[in-house]
Amino acid sequence: MIKVWDYKKEYELLRDDILDAVDSVFKSGTLIFGPNVDEFEKKFSSYHDTKFGIGVGNCTDAITISLKALGVTSNDEVITTSNTAVPTVTGIVNTGASVRFVDINDYSLIDVNKIEKAINDKTKAIIPVHLYGQMCEMDKIMELANKHNLKVIEDCAQSHGATYKGKKAGSIGDVGCFSFYPTKIFGAYGDGGFITTNDEPLNDKIKRIRFLGMEKKKMSSGHWNGKYYAIEHGANSRLDEVHAAILLKKLKYLDEWIDRRRVIAAKYDKEFKNTSLETPIEHPDNKHAYYIYVVAHKNRDKIMSELTKKDIHLNISYPWPIHIMDAYKHFECGSCNCLRNQAKNDNCKSLPKTDVSANKIFSLPMYPTLTDEEQNIVIKELKNLI
Ligand SMILES: Cc1ncc(COP(=O)(O)O)c(C=O)c1O
Repeated sequence: MIKVWDYKKEYELLRDDILDAVDSVFKSGTLIFGPNVDEFEKKFSSYHDTKFGIGVGNCTDAITISLKALGVTSNDEVITTSNTAVPTVTGIVNTGASVRFVDINDYSLIDVNKIEKAINDKTKAIIPVHLYGQMCEMDKIMELANKHNLKVIEDCAQSHGATYKGKKAGSIGDVGCFSFYPTKIFGAYGDGGFITTNDEPLNDKIKRIRFLGMEKKKMSSGHWNGKYYAIEHGANSRLDEVHAAILLKKLKYLDEWIDRRRVIAAKYDKEFKNTSLETPIEHPDNKHAYYIYVVAHKNRDKIMSELTKKDIHLNISYPWPIHIMDAYKHFECGSCNCLRNQAKNDNCKSLPKTDVSANKIFSLPMYPTLTDEEQNIVIKELKNLI
């Protein structure tokens, strides 16, 4: 069987390291907020060239907490893309804010030339999603954000280690939000998330919000110095010691693993050049980290079912854009201002590239432990079908 991603093989490689990490945390007796989280916060933020880093429970929380810390409320709108994972939008809606979708470009990323049209008096923030491992055009996004006084939250859930003009994901906007969901480029053995920032007051506020909005406060008696006191409404979202310890063990391999992903991607690129399969385009300003290798073909569904019969498993990220989903179709489109849930707008084509792409994209097996032999089988079988 060839899986579309496989973290069991990684465990076999790192078993001793991981068991050692788990054992040392369990023996230490400190399971929440301890030395591993502190060290990981320093090392992961420094890896992403930012001054500060805050471990949280997952990336959905990272997005919600960041937006709240940046002052986004139910009166506001946040711009993002519809071609993303649901949690990008969950994170926005958790704050009470509305979502405004902008179409994608040839790189499957937010089309920076369409953002300004979507900005209005209510717009408070932009969430560029660095999808599939590739960063959005951040110069233009930051220029628009500065011009219109907007906050920028980079959704880096899929882009650990990726760069744009040599700058790491999560180091350009006000904050970067990362996921350590196990399938990710850099995954934990359970849930985990992270926020990067260069802004010290914002870092302090985010740290407070992730822990129930509490800070240490002295009691009037002078005793119990350091009891916690909520000074604002917060969340309860923590990266725990076990996952921080495992991630610390894994961090030294991250660059090597991204290089391996790029070798796999280069081979797919070469083999499918001049075929009917559309392969991903790496923007010249980017170093793509290839979280997933997303291709497109008009016979997608047939290809996928034929390959499944041969025990080669593919995936679709994402078969339904968010703007057609029941939960979110009421949000206004960026370019035509229609309300998608009104029958008269059923034919709305304001996100044409997003709509077209969802019907033909799929991803090929991509992970550092995919062997050359396995990749050759995928290539051979897929070539036979297209
Ligand atoms: C683009 C994107 N944003 C946010 C998330 C949310 O990550 P998590 O599962 O850690 O909450 C994901 C994970 O699927 C994602 O792919």
